[in-house]
Amino acid sequence: MPSLSDQIASRRTFAIISHPDAGKTTLTEKLLLYTGSIQTAGSVKGKASARHAVSDWMDIEKERGISVTSSVLQFTYEGKCVNILDTPGHQDFSEDTYRTLMAADAAVMVIDGAKGVEAQTKKLFKVCTLRHIPIFTFVNKLDHDTRDPFDLTEEIETVLGIGTYPMNWPIGSGRNFRGVFDRNSRHVIAFEGDGHANATKKVNEIEAELGDPALDELIGEENHRTLMDDIELLDGADNEFDLEAVRTGRLTPVFFGSALTNFGVEPFLKDFLRLAPEPLAYTDVLTGEKVEPSRPEFSGFVFKIQANMDRHHRDRIAFVRICSGKFERGMSAYHVQGDRTIKLATGTSMMADDRAIVDEAYAGDIVGLFDPGIFSIGDTVCAGKPRVQFPQIPTFAPEHFARITQVDTLKRKQFIKGVEELAQEGAIQIFRELGMGMESVIVGVVGVLQLDVLERRLKSEYGVEVSRHPLPYHEIRWIQNDPEELDMASLNLSRDTGRVEDMRGGRLLLFTNEFNVNWAEERNPELRLSEFGNVT
Ligand code: G4P
Repeated sequence: MPSLSDQIASRRTFAIISHPDAGKTTLTEKLLLYTGSIQTAGSVKGKASARHAVSDWMDIEKERGISVTSSVLQFTYEGKCVNILDTPGHQDFSEDTYRTLMAADAAVMVIDGAKGVEAQTKKLFKVCTLRHIPIFTFVNKLDHDTRDPFDLTEEIETVLGIGTYPMNWPIGSGRNFRGVFDRNSRHVIAFEGDGHANATKKVNEIEAELGDPALDELIGEENHRTLMDDIELLDGADNEFDLEAVRTGRLTPVFFGSALTNFGVEPFLKDFLRLAPEPLAYTDVLTGEKVEPSRPEFSGFVFKIQANMDRHHRDRIAFVRICSGKFERGMSAYHVQGDRTIKLATGTSMMADDRAIVDEAYAGDIVGLFDPGIFSIGDTVCAGKPRVQFPQIPTFAPEHFARITQVDTLKRKQFIKGVEELAQEGAIQIFRELGMGMESVIVGVVGVLQLDVLERRLKSEYGVEVSRHPLPYHEIRWIQNDPEELDMASLNLSRDTGRVEDMRGGRLLLFTNEFNVNWAEERNPELRLSEFGNVT
């Protein structure tokens, strides 16, 4: 039996971030293919069919054929136990996408080689930088015409503000894509035969040395010459590979490849698993000390709550990132925020399309706990003494706002209960307008789909009909100043700026555009604003 510390040391837990359509799903699927977790591609993708089967517990999912909540894929490969945290990215982009990054020890950033750094990637990247986790870049779709690789790495550096270190270098792109040069082994890895054509099986690769005349034939004389020039330039640039800089999120190793044609996926996986960190230590806010993952007693925090897995019950699943020790099904642990000891009744883990019961899990893993409605996002559970408590999860800036008003004023209680419970679950944020009662609230969401979900659930679960008026806000900022230090009413703001409070009493401003944010900052020099709430 492997020891506790061996079990933990073998864990690699990461999330894949990207702008929609960059290839996150395809890359995930290919990682499963290479690790033997699936036999042929096509089992994960197919949003309308396969994924749908995983969680058809909500009407809205069925109608739209997408998964509203994220899940975890676990597999073993070369002695490592790998957890991929799924970060919903299309219409199902939500605050859960951001929160999942709080439970990851590393992120893989997939970039479309033709498009470069896109809007959603930027947002997700910013969230990763809150925790300084290592970020690995996979520049995808090299089988299509892509931008110049030097341009792409420069864009990553300037737009995201992170150093880059190309681990490999592409040879041509589009129809002319021949393979990559691996900078570590100094070998060319080229396609063999019809590697390009077969997207469902592993690709055959052959290796050759740079400068070898045989390479002229393999990748073409011109490609060979360009490659030699490029590599000379790269080697001449004075940024060394610095593992410490990678581990602290200051340098991103960059890999070029094509998830669709499988090219570069396996070398990426091997390097990634070699360089990605073991489970990271989280801070105990009670002592300010790090809780080492190898601490024998179990501890973890809730980063996501998924409602109504079974449509006939209100039960929820609270997803917990294990921060230390070992989880055993049925064990007792102290729920810090609830101030009581509870039995951790059910553990579930997701493997592509079946939800298996988990009997044991280790630091770095994610378990889904049965939640009769006691957990909130950010709650800590821990066994043994001394007790620990992990930091709150930041509140992320919603981008869509609406005023939600109850239609039947007699259902006031249900309305308040509904919005508060759904906010506690973390699907929406609710704000109170200053001087207004609770007949209506302002709701903010990260992904617009959440507003549909809210309306639907208020009706089906709480019997409350609401009307919804979209509001023109796009930017939200938490006020950092103490209330005694700064009175919100006295701020000099543009007429269309909203002044609201969140449920924790935090004070916020809602702006219609970036210009008004700057306006507010310029006219109120004492005002300190943050894009995240609750950052400790
Ligand atoms: P996402 O999860 O990041 O949103 O992207 P996804 O993997 O769904 O890929 C988006 C589209 O890009 C898909 O095409 C997919 O086949 C394609 N794609 C992914 N990787 C590569 C690649 O390396 N090269 C090329 N040429 N295309 C790639 P689609 O037409 O939208 O979907 P489908 O009909 O193929 O399912």
